[in-house]
Amino acid sequence: MSKRILLIIGGGIAAYKCLDFVRRARERGIAVRAVMTRAATEFVTPLSFGALTNDNVYSDLFDLNDEREIGHIRLSREADLIVVAPATADLLAKMAGGHANDLATAVLMATDKPVLVAPAMNPRMWLHPATKRNVATLDADGIQFIGPSSGEMAERGEAGPGRMAEPLDILAAAERLMGEAADGRQTTRGLRVVPDFADAPLAGRHVVVTSGPTHEPIDPVRYIANRSSGKQGHAIAAAAAKLGARVTLISGPVTLPDPADCRVVHVETAAEMMAAVEATLPVDIAIFAAAVADWRVANAGREKIKKTAASRVPELALVENADILRTVAHHRRARPSLVIGFAAETEHVIEHAKKKRKAKGCDWIVANDVSPATEVMGGDRNTIHLVSSKTMESWPEMSKADVADALMRRVAEHMAQIGAAAE
Ligand SMILES: Cc1cc2nc3c(=O)[nH]c(=O)nc-3n(C[C@H](O)[C@H](O)[C@H](O)COP(=O)(O)O)c2cc1C
Repeated sequence: MSKRILLIIGGGIAAYKCLDFVRRARERGIAVRAVMTRAATEFVTPLSFGALTNDNVYSDLFDLNDEREIGHIRLSREADLIVVAPATADLLAKMAGGHANDLATAVLMATDKPVLVAPAMNPRMWLHPATKRNVATLDADGIQFIGPSSGEMAERGEAGPGRMAEPLDILAAAERLMGEAADGRQTTRGLRVVPDFADAPLAGRHVVVTSGPTHEPIDPVRYIANRSSGKQGHAIAAAAAKLGARVTLISGPVTLPDPADCRVVHVETAAEMMAAVEATLPVDIAIFAAAVADWRVANAGREKIKKTAASRVPELALVENADILRTVAHHRRARPSLVIGFAAETEHVIEHAKKKRKAKGCDWIVANDVSPATEVMGGDRNTIHLVSSKTMESWPEMSKADVADALMRRVAEHMAQIGAAAE
């Protein structure tokens, strides 16, 4: 028999995403029945859910027809799993308190099936002590959580943890739980369980990260490039988002997918990257991991430069590109609290990095040896040295993802220290 989900939709902006959840579930042969809170019907119509579920949509505890037809107790037992999405702060509070004053909460109290909740709310609501208490209570009660993730909110200028998990991720978690329940296996602790509240130390901070190479045109079809893959910069952007920051990633041409929960600006040349960085200021933290071309071609051809038997080999005149790191580190109006540059060196790595930090005026330099033998350029691993005005640390070889995580943790600690010092 096909699996059945009872979807309880709460009154949040992310309610519209549940339409996609229903469609995807039905594509997989999973039947979905919808219960909407009264607030949810302010965001999406029952008609839409009715059409997509091909079933009645239930919202009123005291609707006699519904009670005669099915009743809230049967509703709560006929599914293999209950999914609450978006789980509002209000719904979490009612669930934790054992309320049953509407259909959604009465069903949740009466069920004997596993319950998966996908919270979605403003970061301040999510980080509120009351929500923390409620989530801890629900975790202790065996309720499963998926998300929330971090990133920009629907409200302008708001960022941090509180975005509902993507419909496909909720569905994957739901399928897993239903599989475990059918096998009679323990259903708890299988997922990304209780969200770690302490783990959003960069909530409310805006981070700009540059990544990848730049391409400097020679003519409309040719360009000067470098071997940067963008792997390290993209990993840093993802790590910053995981810690709750609002992240703007400014990426040169790379073959990598855009990391989740980041606003990504795609650029090609150093000049475009400079303009994109300036347009993003002010930010709290700037991390310049891109391998920006030092020079561009002054006499780039408007048309493709032709190779003819008679013509001589063209001469390229190079001019210097603007120095993004130096410009931002010396910005008069909008210098970020923390400016981090990268130094890709092939010899005397630490010595050059120390000199570079002073010359550019940035706070930290992440230096790495990019000689071909190290396979750092394009590879998945990195060995870095972290240079500040007072200290120099050499980190052991790690994956670029681990370097990114460790670096962003260090950034979070630093921001907490300077934040505390300013108070
Ligand atoms: C425009 C708007 C957006 C809202 N978005 C959310 C949200 O994303 N998460 C949340 O917890 N509450 C949100 N709220 C508040 C809830 O709608 C409100 O707490 C409501 O009582 C929730 O009811 P329910 O939990 O029964 O669905 C929003 C309110 C408005 C007016």
